[in-house]
Amino acid sequence: MLSQKTIEIIKSTVPVLEVHGTTITTVFYKNLFEAYPELLNIFNHANQKKGRQQHALANTVLAAAKHIDQLETILPVVKQIAQKHRSLAVKPEHYPIVGEYLLAAIKEVLQEAATEEILQAWGDAYGVIAGVFISVEKEMYDQASKQEGGWADFKPFTVVKKVPESDVITSFYLKPANGEGIPAFLPGQYVTVRIGIPGERFLFNRQYSLSDAAGKDYFRISVKKERTESSPDGRVSNYLHDSIQVGDSLDLTAPAGHFSIDLEKGTPVVFLGGGVGITPFMSMVHAVADQTPDRDVQFIHASDNGKVQPFRRELTGLAQKLESYQLAFVFKNPEKEDKQLPNFVKEGYMDKELLSLHVKPDADYYICGPVPFMKAIITCLKELGVEPDNIHYEFFGPAVSL
Ligand code: HEM
Repeated sequence: MLSQKTIEIIKSTVPVLEVHGTTITTVFYKNLFEAYPELLNIFNHANQKKGRQQHALANTVLAAAKHIDQLETILPVVKQIAQKHRSLAVKPEHYPIVGEYLLAAIKEVLQEAATEEILQAWGDAYGVIAGVFISVEKEMYDQASKQEGGWADFKPFTVVKKVPESDVITSFYLKPANGEGIPAFLPGQYVTVRIGIPGERFLFNRQYSLSDAAGKDYFRISVKKERTESSPDGRVSNYLHDSIQVGDSLDLTAPAGHFSIDLEKGTPVVFLGGGVGITPFMSMVHAVADQTPDRDVQFIHASDNGKVQPFRRELTGLAQKLESYQLAFVFKNPEKEDKQLPNFVKEGYMDKELLSLHVKPDADYYICGPVPFMKAIITCLKELGVEPDNIHYEFFGPAVSL
Protein backbone atom coordinates (compact mmCIF):
# COMPACT_ATOMS: atom_id res chain seq x y z
CA MET A 1 0.00 0.00 0.00
CA LEU A 2 1.31 3.44 -0.88
CA SER A 3 0.96 6.26 1.63
CA GLN A 4 -1.27 9.26 0.85
CA LYS A 5 1.87 11.40 0.66
CA THR A 6 3.48 9.11 -1.92
CA ILE A 7 0.28 9.14 -3.98
CA GLU A 8 0.24 12.95 -3.90
CA ILE A 9 3.89 13.15 -4.99
CA ILE A 10 3.29 10.72 -7.84
CA LYS A 11 0.23 12.61 -9.05
CA SER A 12 1.98 15.97 -8.84
CA THR A 13 4.87 14.68 -11.01
CA VAL A 14 2.57 13.71 -13.89
CA PRO A 15 2.90 17.14 -15.61
CA VAL A 16 6.72 16.83 -15.43
CA LEU A 17 6.53 13.35 -16.89
CA GLU A 18 4.27 14.60 -19.65
CA VAL A 19 7.04 16.94 -20.74
CA HIS A 20 9.99 14.57 -20.21
CA GLY A 21 8.36 11.13 -20.46
CA THR A 22 9.81 10.13 -23.80
CA THR A 23 13.28 11.54 -23.02
CA ILE A 24 13.31 9.63 -19.75
CA THR A 25 12.48 6.32 -21.41
CA THR A 26 14.98 6.96 -24.22
CA VAL A 27 17.75 7.51 -21.65
CA PHE A 28 16.42 4.51 -19.75
CA TYR A 29 16.72 2.15 -22.73
CA LYS A 30 20.16 3.43 -23.71
CA ASN A 31 21.55 2.82 -20.20
CA LEU A 32 19.63 -0.43 -19.74
CA PHE A 33 21.02 -2.00 -22.91
CA GLU A 34 24.54 -0.78 -22.15
CA ALA A 35 24.39 -2.53 -18.77
CA TYR A 36 22.37 -5.58 -19.88
CA PRO A 37 23.00 -6.08 -23.62
CA GLU A 38 21.53 -9.60 -23.32
CA LEU A 39 18.09 -7.99 -22.94
CA LEU A 40 18.34 -7.27 -26.67
CA ASN A 41 17.54 -10.97 -27.05
CA ILE A 42 14.05 -10.05 -25.83
CA PHE A 43 13.43 -6.53 -27.17
CA ASN A 44 12.65 -5.82 -30.80
CA HIS A 45 15.70 -4.04 -32.27
CA ALA A 46 13.61 -2.52 -35.10
CA ASN A 47 11.14 -1.01 -32.61
CA GLN A 48 14.06 0.39 -30.62
CA LYS A 49 15.48 2.03 -33.74
CA LYS A 50 12.12 3.66 -34.50
CA GLY A 51 11.57 4.78 -30.90
CA ARG A 52 8.22 2.97 -30.82
CA GLN A 53 8.76 1.11 -27.58
CA GLN A 54 9.90 4.33 -25.88
CA HIS A 55 6.49 5.86 -26.51
CA ALA A 56 4.62 2.74 -25.43
CA LEU A 57 6.43 2.56 -22.12
CA ALA A 58 6.23 6.32 -21.49
CA ASN A 59 2.48 6.32 -22.10
CA THR A 60 1.92 3.41 -19.78
CA VAL A 61 3.99 4.86 -16.98
CA LEU A 62 2.00 8.08 -17.32
CA ALA A 63 -1.33 6.26 -17.32
CA ALA A 64 -0.24 4.34 -14.25
CA ALA A 65 0.87 7.55 -12.49
CA LYS A 66 -2.49 9.16 -13.19
CA HIS A 67 -4.32 6.17 -11.74
CA ILE A 68 -1.88 5.16 -9.04
CA ASP A 69 -4.59 5.11 -6.33
CA GLN A 70 -6.97 3.07 -8.47
CA LEU A 71 -4.77 0.82 -10.61
CA GLU A 72 -7.73 -1.50 -11.23
CA THR A 73 -8.99 1.02 -13.82
CA ILE A 74 -5.94 0.36 -16.02
CA LEU A 75 -6.12 -3.41 -15.54
CA PRO A 76 -7.48 -4.02 -19.07
CA VAL A 77 -4.42 -2.20 -20.49
CA VAL A 78 -2.11 -4.13 -18.15
CA LYS A 79 -3.63 -7.41 -19.34
CA GLN A 80 -3.09 -6.43 -22.97
CA ILE A 81 0.58 -5.57 -22.36
CA ALA A 82 1.01 -8.66 -20.18
CA GLN A 83 -0.09 -10.79 -23.14
CA LYS A 84 2.82 -9.33 -25.11
CA HIS A 85 5.21 -9.76 -22.15
CA ARG A 86 4.11 -13.39 -21.67
CA SER A 87 4.58 -14.11 -25.35
CA LEU A 88 8.16 -12.78 -25.08
CA ALA A 89 8.92 -14.74 -21.88
CA VAL A 90 9.41 -11.58 -19.76
CA LYS A 91 10.04 -12.82 -16.21
CA PRO A 92 9.57 -11.42 -12.65
CA GLU A 93 13.35 -11.11 -12.25
CA HIS A 94 13.43 -8.60 -15.15
CA TYR A 95 11.24 -6.08 -13.30
CA PRO A 96 13.74 -4.87 -10.66
CA ILE A 97 16.31 -4.29 -13.43
CA VAL A 98 13.84 -2.20 -15.43
CA GLY A 99 12.83 -0.37 -12.21
CA GLU A 100 16.43 0.47 -11.31
CA TYR A 101 17.19 1.91 -14.74
CA LEU A 102 13.89 3.76 -15.00
CA LEU A 103 14.53 5.49 -11.69
CA ALA A 104 18.12 6.29 -12.67
CA ALA A 105 16.82 7.80 -15.93
CA ILE A 106 14.30 9.98 -14.08
CA LYS A 107 17.17 11.21 -11.94
CA GLU A 108 19.45 11.85 -14.92
CA VAL A 109 16.86 13.82 -16.90
CA LEU A 110 15.17 15.77 -14.13
CA GLN A 111 18.46 16.44 -12.30
CA GLU A 112 17.91 18.57 -9.14
CA ALA A 113 14.13 18.56 -9.72
CA ALA A 114 14.24 14.83 -8.88
CA THR A 115 14.52 15.13 -5.11
CA GLU A 116 15.16 12.14 -2.86
CA GLU A 117 11.49 12.29 -1.87
CA ILE A 118 10.31 12.13 -5.50
CA LEU A 119 12.68 9.28 -6.32
CA GLN A 120 11.57 7.37 -3.24
CA ALA A 121 7.91 7.86 -4.21
CA TRP A 122 8.58 6.66 -7.77
CA GLY A 123 10.54 3.68 -6.49
CA ASP A 124 7.57 2.69 -4.33
CA ALA A 125 5.05 3.33 -7.10
CA TYR A 126 7.08 1.32 -9.63
CA GLY A 127 7.12 -1.55 -7.13
CA VAL A 128 3.33 -1.49 -6.96
CA ILE A 129 2.89 -1.25 -10.75
CA ALA A 130 5.45 -4.00 -11.36
CA GLY A 131 3.67 -6.15 -8.77
CA VAL A 132 0.42 -5.87 -10.75
CA PHE A 133 2.17 -6.87 -13.99
CA ILE A 134 4.00 -9.77 -12.34
CA SER A 135 0.85 -11.22 -10.82
CA VAL A 136 -1.21 -10.85 -14.03
CA GLU A 137 1.66 -12.46 -15.99
CA LYS A 138 2.04 -15.30 -13.48
CA GLU A 139 -1.59 -16.22 -14.06
CA MET A 140 -0.98 -16.19 -17.82
CA TYR A 141 2.14 -18.40 -17.56
CA ASP A 142 0.24 -20.85 -15.33
CA GLN A 143 -2.66 -20.93 -17.76
CA ALA A 144 -0.38 -21.44 -20.78
CA SER A 145 1.52 -24.32 -19.18
CA LYS A 146 -1.56 -26.07 -17.72
CA GLN A 147 -3.46 -26.00 -21.01
CA GLU A 148 -3.51 -29.27 -22.94
CA GLY A 149 -0.58 -29.18 -25.35
CA GLY A 150 0.51 -25.86 -23.80
CA TRP A 151 3.87 -24.67 -22.52
CA ALA A 152 5.29 -21.65 -20.70
CA ASP A 153 8.45 -20.47 -22.51
CA PHE A 154 9.97 -21.02 -25.94
CA LYS A 155 9.59 -24.44 -27.52
CA PRO A 156 11.16 -25.74 -30.74
CA PHE A 157 8.89 -26.26 -33.75
CA THR A 158 9.74 -27.81 -37.10
CA VAL A 159 8.75 -26.23 -40.40
CA VAL A 160 6.75 -28.99 -42.13
CA LYS A 161 5.48 -27.02 -45.11
CA LYS A 162 6.18 -23.68 -46.79
CA VAL A 163 3.48 -22.35 -49.11
CA PRO A 164 3.65 -19.11 -51.11
CA GLU A 165 0.30 -17.32 -50.74
CA SER A 166 1.20 -14.40 -53.03
CA ASP A 167 4.33 -12.74 -54.47
CA VAL A 168 5.12 -11.31 -51.01
CA ILE A 169 3.42 -13.56 -48.43
CA THR A 170 4.48 -17.11 -47.57
CA SER A 171 2.84 -19.46 -45.05
CA PHE A 172 4.91 -21.62 -42.74
CA TYR A 173 3.26 -24.75 -41.27
CA LEU A 174 4.82 -25.57 -37.91
CA LYS A 175 4.64 -28.69 -35.73
CA PRO A 176 6.18 -29.20 -32.25
CA ALA A 177 9.59 -30.82 -32.72
CA ASN A 178 8.88 -33.25 -29.84
CA GLY A 179 5.76 -34.59 -31.54
CA GLU A 180 3.38 -33.22 -28.88
CA GLY A 181 -0.03 -31.78 -29.72
CA ILE A 182 -1.05 -28.19 -30.40
CA PRO A 183 -3.02 -26.23 -27.77
CA ALA A 184 -6.36 -24.61 -28.52
CA PHE A 185 -6.15 -20.86 -29.18
CA LEU A 186 -8.50 -17.97 -29.77
CA PRO A 187 -8.94 -16.96 -33.42
CA GLY A 188 -6.92 -13.79 -33.93
CA GLN A 189 -4.12 -14.70 -31.49
CA TYR A 190 -0.43 -14.59 -32.39
CA VAL A 191 2.74 -16.48 -31.52
CA THR A 192 6.22 -15.08 -30.99
CA VAL A 193 8.89 -16.60 -33.21
CA ARG A 194 12.46 -16.30 -31.92
CA ILE A 195 15.37 -16.84 -34.29
CA GLY A 196 19.09 -16.38 -34.40
CA ILE A 197 20.34 -15.00 -37.72
CA PRO A 198 23.92 -15.90 -38.67
CA GLY A 199 26.22 -12.90 -38.19
CA GLU A 200 23.81 -11.17 -35.79
CA ARG A 201 24.80 -10.80 -32.14
CA PHE A 202 21.30 -10.97 -30.67
CA LEU A 203 18.21 -13.09 -31.20
CA PHE A 204 15.20 -11.66 -33.01
CA ASN A 205 11.61 -11.95 -31.78
CA ARG A 206 8.61 -11.33 -33.99
CA GLN A 207 4.90 -11.79 -33.44
CA TYR A 208 2.91 -13.43 -36.23
CA SER A 209 -0.84 -14.01 -36.21
CA LEU A 210 -1.98 -17.61 -36.48
CA SER A 211 -3.58 -17.71 -39.90
CA ASP A 212 -5.49 -21.00 -39.75
CA ALA A 213 -8.22 -22.26 -37.42
CA ALA A 214 -7.42 -23.94 -34.10
CA GLY A 215 -7.88 -27.70 -33.81
CA LYS A 216 -5.28 -28.70 -36.43
CA ASP A 217 -2.06 -30.59 -35.70
CA TYR A 218 0.00 -27.59 -36.84
CA PHE A 219 0.22 -23.83 -36.48
CA ARG A 220 0.25 -21.73 -39.60
CA ILE A 221 1.84 -18.29 -39.76
CA SER A 222 1.86 -16.20 -42.93
CA VAL A 223 4.74 -13.79 -43.26
CA LYS A 224 5.08 -10.79 -45.55
CA LYS A 225 8.53 -10.26 -46.99
CA GLU A 226 9.16 -6.65 -45.98
CA ARG A 227 11.41 -4.41 -48.02
CA THR A 228 14.72 -4.12 -46.19
CA GLU A 229 16.02 -0.95 -47.78
CA SER A 230 13.29 1.18 -46.21
CA SER A 231 12.88 -0.54 -42.88
CA PRO A 232 14.82 -2.66 -40.37
CA ASP A 233 11.60 -4.70 -39.96
CA GLY A 234 12.57 -6.75 -42.99
CA ARG A 235 15.56 -8.51 -41.40
CA VAL A 236 13.48 -11.37 -39.99
CA SER A 237 10.87 -11.69 -42.72
CA ASN A 238 13.56 -11.87 -45.43
CA TYR A 239 15.48 -14.47 -43.46
CA LEU A 240 12.34 -16.57 -43.02
CA HIS A 241 11.45 -16.33 -46.71
CA ASP A 242 14.94 -16.89 -48.10
CA SER A 243 16.74 -19.12 -45.60
CA ILE A 244 14.24 -21.06 -43.50
CA GLN A 245 13.30 -24.28 -45.26
CA VAL A 246 11.15 -27.34 -44.56
CA GLY A 247 12.83 -29.35 -41.77
CA ASP A 248 14.32 -26.27 -40.08
CA SER A 249 13.52 -25.41 -36.48
CA LEU A 250 11.96 -22.23 -35.04
CA ASP A 251 11.36 -21.45 -31.38
CA LEU A 252 7.82 -20.37 -30.48
CA THR A 253 5.92 -19.24 -27.40
CA ALA A 254 2.33 -20.35 -26.88
CA PRO A 255 -0.47 -18.33 -28.55
CA ALA A 256 -1.23 -14.98 -26.95
CA GLY A 257 -3.10 -11.75 -27.59
CA HIS A 258 -6.44 -10.13 -26.88
CA PHE A 259 -7.62 -9.42 -30.44
CA SER A 260 -10.24 -12.06 -31.05
CA ILE A 261 -13.80 -12.62 -32.14
CA ASP A 262 -16.71 -13.53 -29.89
CA LEU A 263 -17.86 -16.83 -31.38
CA GLU A 264 -20.92 -16.92 -29.13
CA LYS A 265 -22.36 -13.89 -30.89
CA GLY A 266 -24.66 -14.28 -33.87
CA THR A 267 -24.38 -10.69 -35.13
CA PRO A 268 -23.16 -10.03 -38.69
CA VAL A 269 -19.40 -9.71 -38.90
CA VAL A 270 -17.43 -7.54 -41.30
CA PHE A 271 -13.68 -8.16 -41.74
CA LEU A 272 -11.79 -5.20 -43.18
CA GLY A 273 -8.18 -6.10 -43.90
CA GLY A 274 -5.35 -4.13 -45.47
CA GLY A 275 -2.33 -6.02 -46.91
CA VAL A 276 -0.83 -8.58 -44.53
CA GLY A 277 -3.34 -7.37 -41.90
CA ILE A 278 -5.53 -10.10 -43.36
CA THR A 279 -3.74 -12.82 -41.32
CA PRO A 280 -5.67 -12.69 -38.00
CA PHE A 281 -8.89 -12.69 -40.01
CA MET A 282 -7.98 -15.99 -41.62
CA SER A 283 -8.18 -17.82 -38.27
CA MET A 284 -11.31 -15.83 -37.37
CA VAL A 285 -13.20 -16.51 -40.59
CA HIS A 286 -12.30 -20.21 -40.47
CA ALA A 287 -13.54 -20.37 -36.86
CA VAL A 288 -16.85 -18.73 -37.84
CA ALA A 289 -17.21 -21.08 -40.84
CA ASP A 290 -16.57 -24.11 -38.60
CA GLN A 291 -18.66 -23.08 -35.61
CA THR A 292 -21.42 -20.66 -36.69
CA PRO A 293 -21.73 -21.02 -40.47
CA ASP A 294 -25.16 -19.32 -40.41
CA ARG A 295 -23.56 -16.03 -39.25
CA ASP A 296 -23.58 -13.27 -41.87
CA VAL A 297 -19.96 -12.67 -42.98
CA GLN A 298 -18.53 -9.93 -45.17
CA PHE A 299 -14.83 -10.14 -45.94
CA ILE A 300 -13.25 -7.16 -47.66
CA HIS A 301 -9.55 -7.03 -48.41
CA ALA A 302 -7.52 -4.17 -49.83
CA SER A 303 -4.12 -4.65 -51.46
CA ASP A 304 -2.01 -3.26 -54.23
CA ASN A 305 -2.90 -5.79 -56.91
CA GLY A 306 -3.74 -9.43 -57.53
CA LYS A 307 -0.10 -10.55 -57.43
CA VAL A 308 0.41 -9.55 -53.79
CA GLN A 309 -3.12 -10.50 -52.66
CA PRO A 310 -3.01 -13.74 -50.60
CA PHE A 311 -5.45 -16.60 -49.78
CA ARG A 312 -7.73 -15.98 -52.77
CA ARG A 313 -8.64 -19.62 -53.35
CA GLU A 314 -9.02 -20.34 -49.63
CA LEU A 315 -11.34 -17.36 -49.13
CA THR A 316 -13.41 -18.18 -52.21
CA GLY A 317 -13.74 -21.78 -50.97
CA LEU A 318 -15.35 -20.61 -47.72
CA ALA A 319 -18.54 -19.93 -49.72
CA GLN A 320 -19.10 -23.72 -49.48
CA LYS A 321 -19.38 -23.50 -45.71
CA LEU A 322 -20.74 -20.02 -44.93
CA GLU A 323 -24.45 -19.59 -45.58
CA SER A 324 -24.39 -15.80 -46.01
CA TYR A 325 -21.00 -14.67 -47.30
CA GLN A 326 -19.75 -11.74 -49.30
CA LEU A 327 -16.12 -11.56 -50.43
CA ALA A 328 -14.72 -8.38 -51.96
CA PHE A 329 -11.27 -7.35 -53.18
CA VAL A 330 -10.12 -3.76 -53.55
CA PHE A 331 -6.93 -3.16 -55.57
CA LYS A 332 -5.04 0.11 -55.56
CA ASN A 333 -3.17 -0.62 -58.80
CA PRO A 334 -4.94 -3.54 -60.46
CA GLU A 335 -3.50 -5.26 -63.52
CA LYS A 336 -5.86 -5.96 -66.39
CA GLU A 337 -6.44 -9.57 -65.27
CA ASP A 338 -7.13 -8.47 -61.66
CA LYS A 339 -10.17 -6.58 -62.89
CA GLN A 340 -11.58 -9.83 -64.29
CA LEU A 341 -11.54 -11.54 -60.87
CA PRO A 342 -15.08 -12.38 -59.72
CA ASN A 343 -14.63 -10.70 -56.33
CA PHE A 344 -12.93 -7.54 -57.59
CA VAL A 345 -15.14 -4.60 -56.57
CA LYS A 346 -13.09 -1.44 -56.73
CA GLU A 347 -9.94 0.17 -58.06
CA GLY A 348 -8.43 2.58 -55.50
CA TYR A 349 -9.04 2.60 -51.77
CA MET A 350 -11.48 1.02 -49.34
CA ASP A 351 -13.37 4.29 -48.84
CA LYS A 352 -16.55 5.54 -47.23
CA GLU A 353 -18.60 4.98 -50.35
CA LEU A 354 -17.61 1.31 -50.47
CA LEU A 355 -17.98 0.83 -46.72
CA SER A 356 -21.48 2.36 -46.79
CA LEU A 357 -22.56 -0.69 -48.82
CA HIS A 358 -21.43 -2.98 -46.02
CA VAL A 359 -22.67 -1.16 -42.93
CA LYS A 360 -25.33 -3.05 -41.02
CA PRO A 361 -26.84 -1.67 -37.82
CA ASP A 362 -25.85 -4.52 -35.48
CA ALA A 363 -22.67 -5.74 -37.19
CA ASP A 364 -19.24 -6.11 -35.56
CA TYR A 365 -16.34 -4.69 -37.57
CA TYR A 366 -12.81 -6.08 -37.38
CA ILE A 367 -9.98 -3.99 -38.80
CA CYS A 368 -6.33 -4.82 -39.26
CA GLY A 369 -3.70 -3.32 -41.53
CA PRO A 370 -1.23 -0.43 -41.75
CA VAL A 371 -1.92 2.48 -39.36
CA PRO A 372 -3.09 5.00 -42.04
CA PHE A 373 -5.48 2.34 -43.40
CA MET A 374 -6.92 1.66 -39.94
CA LYS A 375 -7.27 5.34 -39.10
CA ALA A 376 -9.14 6.00 -42.36
CA ILE A 377 -11.45 3.00 -41.93
CA ILE A 378 -12.26 3.76 -38.29
CA THR A 379 -13.07 7.39 -39.19
CA CYS A 380 -15.33 6.30 -42.07
CA LEU A 381 -17.17 3.75 -39.93
CA LYS A 382 -17.80 6.31 -37.20
CA GLU A 383 -19.04 8.79 -39.80
CA LEU A 384 -21.37 6.10 -41.08
CA GLY A 385 -22.86 5.80 -37.60
CA VAL A 386 -21.14 2.61 -36.38
CA GLU A 387 -20.92 2.50 -32.58
CA PRO A 388 -17.28 2.53 -31.31
CA ASP A 389 -18.08 -0.61 -29.26
CA ASN A 390 -18.68 -2.50 -32.49
CA ILE A 391 -15.29 -1.52 -33.96
CA HIS A 392 -12.43 -3.89 -33.10
CA TYR A 393 -8.90 -3.43 -34.37
CA GLU A 394 -5.32 -4.54 -34.00
CA PHE A 395 -2.16 -2.83 -35.02
CA PHE A 396 0.94 -4.95 -35.69
CA GLY A 397 3.65 -3.62 -33.38
CA PRO A 398 3.71 -1.89 -30.00
CA ALA A 399 0.22 -0.73 -29.08
CA VAL A 400 -0.50 2.73 -30.46
CA SER A 401 -3.52 4.87 -29.85
CA LEU A 402 -5.73 5.36 -32.91
C1 HEM B 1 6.20 -4.21 -24.55
C2 HEM B 1 5.12 -1.46 -20.72
C3 HEM B 1 8.24 -4.02 -18.02
C4 HEM B 1 9.91 -6.09 -22.07
C5 HEM B 1 5.62 -3.27 -23.72
C6 HEM B 1 4.58 -2.36 -24.14
C7 HEM B 1 4.28 -1.59 -23.07
C8 HEM B 1 5.13 -1.99 -21.96
C9 HEM B 1 3.25 -0.49 -23.02
C10 HEM B 1 3.94 -2.33 -25.53
C11 HEM B 1 2.83 -3.36 -25.57
C12 HEM B 1 2.35 -3.80 -26.93
O1 HEM B 1 3.12 -3.77 -27.87
O2 HEM B 1 1.19 -4.21 -27.06
C13 HEM B 1 5.86 -1.93 -19.64
C14 HEM B 1 5.74 -1.44 -18.27
C15 HEM B 1 6.61 -2.17 -17.52
C16 HEM B 1 7.27 -3.11 -18.41
C17 HEM B 1 4.82 -0.32 -17.84
C18 HEM B 1 6.93 -2.07 -16.05
C19 HEM B 1 6.01 -1.88 -15.12
C20 HEM B 1 8.97 -4.81 -18.87
C21 HEM B 1 10.06 -5.69 -18.49
C22 HEM B 1 10.55 -6.25 -19.64
C23 HEM B 1 9.75 -5.74 -20.75
C24 HEM B 1 10.53 -5.91 -17.05
C25 HEM B 1 11.71 -7.22 -19.79
C26 HEM B 1 12.91 -6.92 -19.55
C27 HEM B 1 9.06 -5.72 -23.10
C28 HEM B 1 9.21 -6.16 -24.47
C29 HEM B 1 8.13 -5.62 -25.18
C30 HEM B 1 7.35 -4.88 -24.23
C31 HEM B 1 10.35 -7.00 -25.00
C32 HEM B 1 7.82 -5.81 -26.69
C33 HEM B 1 8.12 -4.61 -27.50
C34 HEM B 1 9.50 -4.58 -28.10
O3 HEM B 1 10.20 -5.58 -28.16
O4 HEM B 1 9.91 -3.49 -28.53
N1 HEM B 1 5.93 -3.04 -22.40
N2 HEM B 1 6.79 -2.93 -19.67
N3 HEM B 1 8.81 -4.88 -20.24
N4 HEM B 1 7.93 -4.96 -22.99
FE1 HEM B 1 7.32 -4.00 -21.32
